[in-house]
Amino acid sequence: MAPSIRFTQRAARSSTALLAQSLTRQQCPRLPRSLPVKRYNSSTPTTPTTPALHSPPSTSAPVTPSTPAASSSTSSAPVTPPTPAASSTSSSYSAPRRASYGAFRAKILLYSTILATSGYLAYFYATDTRASVHQWLVPRLIRTIWPDAEDAHDVGVKAMKSLYPVNLHVRERSGANANAGLGLSVFGHPLANPIGISAGLDKHADIIDPLFALGAGVVEVGGCTPLAQPGNPKPRMFRVPGIDGLINRYGLNSHGADDMAMRLRNRVRLYARANGLTEAEVLNGEGAVPPGSLAHGRLLAVQIAKNKDTPEQDVGAVSRDYTYCVSRLAPYADILVVNVSSPNTPGLRDLQAVEPLTEILSAVVDEARRADRKTKPKVMVKVSPDEDEEAQMEGIVQAVWRSGVDGVIVGNTTKRRVGVVPPGVAVTAKEAATLGETGGYSGPMMFNRTLNLVKRYRKMLDGQSLALTQPGADGKRAVHDEKKDIVDEAVGASLGGIEGTPTGMVEDDITKTPLSKRSTRSRETVDGSRNQKVIFATGGISTGEQALQILNAGASLAMVYTGLVYGGRRHGYPH
Ligand SMILES: Cc1cc2nc3c(=O)[nH]c(=O)nc-3n(C[C@H](O)[C@H](O)[C@H](O)COP(=O)(O)O)c2cc1C
Repeated sequence: MAPSIRFTQRAARSSTALLAQSLTRQQCPRLPRSLPVKRYNSSTPTTPTTPALHSPPSTSAPVTPSTPAASSSTSSAPVTPPTPAASSTSSSYSAPRRASYGAFRAKILLYSTILATSGYLAYFYATDTRASVHQWLVPRLIRTIWPDAEDAHDVGVKAMKSLYPVNLHVRERSGANANAGLGLSVFGHPLANPIGISAGLDKHADIIDPLFALGAGVVEVGGCTPLAQPGNPKPRMFRVPGIDGLINRYGLNSHGADDMAMRLRNRVRLYARANGLTEAEVLNGEGAVPPGSLAHGRLLAVQIAKNKDTPEQDVGAVSRDYTYCVSRLAPYADILVVNVSSPNTPGLRDLQAVEPLTEILSAVVDEARRADRKTKPKVMVKVSPDEDEEAQMEGIVQAVWRSGVDGVIVGNTTKRRVGVVPPGVAVTAKEAATLGETGGYSGPMMFNRTLNLVKRYRKMLDGQSLALTQPGADGKRAVHDEKKDIVDEAVGASLGGIEGTPTGMVEDDITKTPLSKRSTRSRETVDGSRNQKVIFATGGISTGEQALQILNAGASLAMVYTGLVYGGRRHGYPH
């Protein structure tokens, strides 16, 4: 705040001075830079151009015609030095001019002050996230100016990127008050508030700090693939404004893990230099901020995915895709997110089956442990809302516990179109056609599905599937008592998923054993840690009330994307 005020005041002062100068010259070109000191002959009329010229002639001086010659001090009349009386005549001559010049200066000052104050107020208003223009005007304006949604996305990212360094970015201004009572602890880190920005908004880690400035507790960048890939052909993002919805089939366009690592590292370097630290000190947490977010009370999540060309049947190759990303990006992330749920990469969602998922997640957890940093990043997996059958969710939960990942991001866009238009809302023919586009739908109508999934995952992660079964002698499954204890402990935890204990810090033999020969015991039990899995939620969350519902259902974080694009919920749905 302080630098922004200083910046504006300086700008206002200098613009005020410039404005005053140029106005003086333009509006009053004949006004001399300084008033001339005129010498008058006491016998001459007081002024050649004022009404005094027409005053009755002085009795003590010969009457001279009011010609320029007469008014000139070089007239033939005898020159006498100015007397006090003459001086007083002179000052009474210039007083009106001085007065009018003073009034002019006062006017300039007034106008400049008004201009500077309105400029400052406009700046203050326009850069406040809570300004209603950002809800009502800006989204509509952007839609009008850039009919293609991807163009608008690109322009938005570029604008945020260039406005931030000059302190003209939009920001959360309410500071501590806005976060009062919203603080929580996730993975042992304090978090200013439970609102996050979902993956896909900042695909290439261009605008991390501007997004944090909006107030988010967590920013997720990516998805990032090991090698650069262009994604699907354009157009690949479509708006359905009548229902505040989006359909996208970006197909994980990415500049690749090396490129993102370079950006993230550069950010760390700049932070280190500004704070008199070394890069290693920042990454090891000696800067008293998380090494990913570089800001107290914030966490940076980095999402990784496989390349489109890597065949999903080759789980080893897929695992290598993910671990390559981890090797590059883990040092700069507070949380690594494994994306197996994008609907736009063929076969990706198949990786959510229990066996491949366990293998991939185990590989990622192991690689994350090797990160060249004192504290290692947490690992989460982002799962699809469309895999919502009990058996599919059970499989995912088992993979989560077996692999040792720290949590689940529940939700993504959906391939389904049923129920995305609220009852009683009519969409235009164009919107109806857009809804037929291939890709993942996102919008407020996903909220109830997300809420339902969070409740179910919370229950499964805490209870049923935590009680992992081991094959008995008869080949049937039997509940392992030790894990039953953990279930009870986890279920009894205060608020779902908020406080986690470090996992993934201790190397264990399980990771070196082929999957088929591994115990079904959860790695946490082997390690001795008994943490509850953390849930982040994404999908249709558009209001504070909905965020609260999601948190009460057991998530630690409510993430937003589409709601942000439309400036918040405009319609009264979903009911
Ligand atoms: C244009 C667009 C791009 C997205 N890209 C990604 C992505 O790269 N990775 C990912 O996991 N999710 C991606 N998502 C999904 C969002 O992260 C989010 O999970 C989803 O949109 C649901 O949340 P929402 O209703 O708040 O938008 C994308 C969504 C949109 C609209």
